[in-house]
Amino acid sequence: MTKLVVANWKMNGDTSKISADLNYYAHVSETNKSNVILALPYIYLVWAKQHLLVNSKINLAAQDLSHYLNCGAYTGKINGEMLKDAGVEYVIIGHSERRNLIGENGPILVHKVRNAFESGLTPIFCVGEPLSARTDGSYLQFIELQLAGLEEIEQFKDIVIAYEPCWSIGTGKIPTMAEIQEVVEFIHQYMQKRFSYVKISVLYGGSVTGQNVDDILKIKSVDGVLVGGASLKVSDFTDICAKV
Ligand code: 13P
Repeated sequence: MTKLVVANWKMNGDTSKISADLNYYAHVSETNKSNVILALPYIYLVWAKQHLLVNSKINLAAQDLSHYLNCGAYTGKINGEMLKDAGVEYVIIGHSERRNLIGENGPILVHKVRNAFESGLTPIFCVGEPLSARTDGSYLQFIELQLAGLEEIEQFKDIVIAYEPCWSIGTGKIPTMAEIQEVVEFIHQYMQKRFSYVKISVLYGGSVTGQNVDDILKIKSVDGVLVGGASLKVSDFTDICAKV
């Protein structure tokens, strides 16, 4: 199976950077691939799709969507239908920054995943333990709880799960390969048991670089990577894509 590489730009970029970077990515073989997914800030998505990535194989992701399904009086919200209309294929849901900074919790995230399915988007659902749960050994229970809400969704479809330990995001610290493998296999088993009829991919995210991506991708159960900081530098991101 082709592994995925997802760039999470978070709240970064402006028109000149996005124009320069995406023009480059659309024209070089290392990055112009359907398994390369760019999660840009909302306001750049339509422009990216209709102008910068024309005839490119690269896919787009949003970094969030509304937990309201239908259009209506929800000032400031963007729903799945709008994202699909903009040419977006994937949506990140439950990133730890939104869980921790904005306080997004289980039921809201379940609504968001359900809405993504209903809108024809593939969710990239993020899970991962804080340092305290890694230290006291309760990390698998922590992740199991984060996954448990998904069982409420009746019409389950293909999904991408990203394992991102909170303590690894933006810190330069990554788990050992054995630790990544343990959690990724746990997620596969958990999901397989309940949703064996859909395609489940499990990514690793947290301080991924051109230097460590080879080792991470050697882990058979890892279906790709979710890249933050290194996706903002063209040469680093091109390096990573070349190895996926
Ligand atoms: P870094 O790659 O900067 O650690 O960020 C990871 C991340 O949060 C991607 O969603």
